[in-house]
Amino acid sequence: MKNKYLQSCQIETPEYIVNGMWRIAETYAPHFNRVVDYGAGDARFSHSTMFNHYTGFEIDPSKIPAADKLPSNVDIIKTDAFSSTSSGYDLCIGNPPYIRANRLDPEWRNNVADSLKSETGVDLNRSVNLFAYFLMLALLRTKKDGLVMQLIPFEWVSRPSAKPIRDFIASKGWQVHVYRFNEDIFDNVLTTASITVIDKSKSDAKWRYYQLSKTFDAVEMLQPSGTPHQVLEYSKRHLDAHSLRGLSPGSQDIFTLTEHERLFYGLGLNDVVGCITSLKHIPSKIKNLTAKSFKKYYVETGKKCWLIRSDKDELSPNLKAYLDSIDESAWKKYSTCTNRAIWWKYTIFPCAPLLVASGFVKFGPKVVLNHAKVIAVGSVYGVFAKKSKFVPLLADGLRKKNFELQVVSHSNNLKKLEIRQLNSVISDILDDQTVTEQENDVFKESRRISYAP
Ligand SMILES: C[S@@+](CC[C@H](N)C(=O)[O-])C[C@H]1O[C@@H](n2cnc3c(N)ncnc32)[C@H](O)[C@@H]1O
Repeated sequence: MKNKYLQSCQIETPEYIVNGMWRIAETYAPHFNRVVDYGAGDARFSHSTMFNHYTGFEIDPSKIPAADKLPSNVDIIKTDAFSSTSSGYDLCIGNPPYIRANRLDPEWRNNVADSLKSETGVDLNRSVNLFAYFLMLALLRTKKDGLVMQLIPFEWVSRPSAKPIRDFIASKGWQVHVYRFNEDIFDNVLTTASITVIDKSKSDAKWRYYQLSKTFDAVEMLQPSGTPHQVLEYSKRHLDAHSLRGLSPGSQDIFTLTEHERLFYGLGLNDVVGCITSLKHIPSKIKNLTAKSFKKYYVETGKKCWLIRSDKDELSPNLKAYLDSIDESAWKKYSTCTNRAIWWKYTIFPCAPLLVASGFVKFGPKVVLNHAKVIAVGSVYGVFAKKSKFVPLLADGLRKKNFELQVVSHSNNLKKLEIRQLNSVISDILDDQTVTEQENDVFKESRRISYAP
């Protein structure tokens, strides 16, 4: 893991959360013999009298307090948590690091995933966040009937990438209680935190979900969505229509430009194509993104609106000069660029007739018809349909759908729709339409028969 990513994961747990977690722990067992904390930082989870011995593992020596400042029953081991095979702990408590998969050192990640697989049989999806590896480690190193209590993003209860872990836990019948905070507990962390408690002493247990306030009042939720509705399913594509994530050409700083930047670099309209990296600049009342509204809300207001056409075989001298002006250090930061034979030669996407925002706050994401024929980039999803008649139908169906009831909060204000969840709604809309069409056919047919001479 690169140093800057290590720093970004070093989010300290507020003391009132540490205390609250210990209070929750007490409802599962009054006292613990051996406690372990992977990613211990300054060992703040050792501030409790509920154990005989605490062992913390911390990779960053600068975080570890001097040994003479620690009580005699607290040890901190300066090492990678995954390098230790010590096990049999009664409780694993803590706040493990959160780091996105693409920021992990691939070699380290593969080694860890391989060794977890050989010990548990669970083949972790390589796209999971680092906290998922720590959760597996906690399950593995606690004793047979031990307790795992981790402060981790709530999303693990629904994300497809975490399914192998959920399946593993379910196969053991362990009891899972997930306490989802209903307010942000960390500044600058865009995720809804949960306290996840896995009780390995149970072998036929139900999963329960709770809303938890900052004062640690818990209310049981019927579903992880926090509503009576199930979380939206994650489906594969429907044969007639599907959605795709926006294009990731590399860095948006390099590949997408504002109108001002386009003119500054002397790029003509042949050097670029209109693109959209966010739908938030369009007023909600606008249902069709026309060339006129694109100009008004993107081009003229200095938003990123042009994707450079460095995918073309022939580049204009000015576009070539623009690319030459980009410092090597700027593009080398992006694996999308470094993995290509020519760092700037990406493959363009076709233009999607329907654009859908991936994030929303209330009811559902913005949905616009793409009359401006812009390319969806980054967090804007594009919807493609085999027949053009499906496009208005899908636009209408998606706008009427109350996504808020079935999507787990990403952070407390923002809900994020995953591409495969959008695909499941698309499938439902098209399947409902097919049923209606079939019903109409039956109706027409029966009418024809009744009036036949
Ligand atoms: C989210 S912080 C939590 C720190 C502390 N436990 C707290 O609650 O305030 C996660 C910690 O994990 C440490 N860490 C990251 N990767 C690690 C690894 N492979 N082994 C051990 N510690 C690691 C980081 O340095 C960081 O201190």
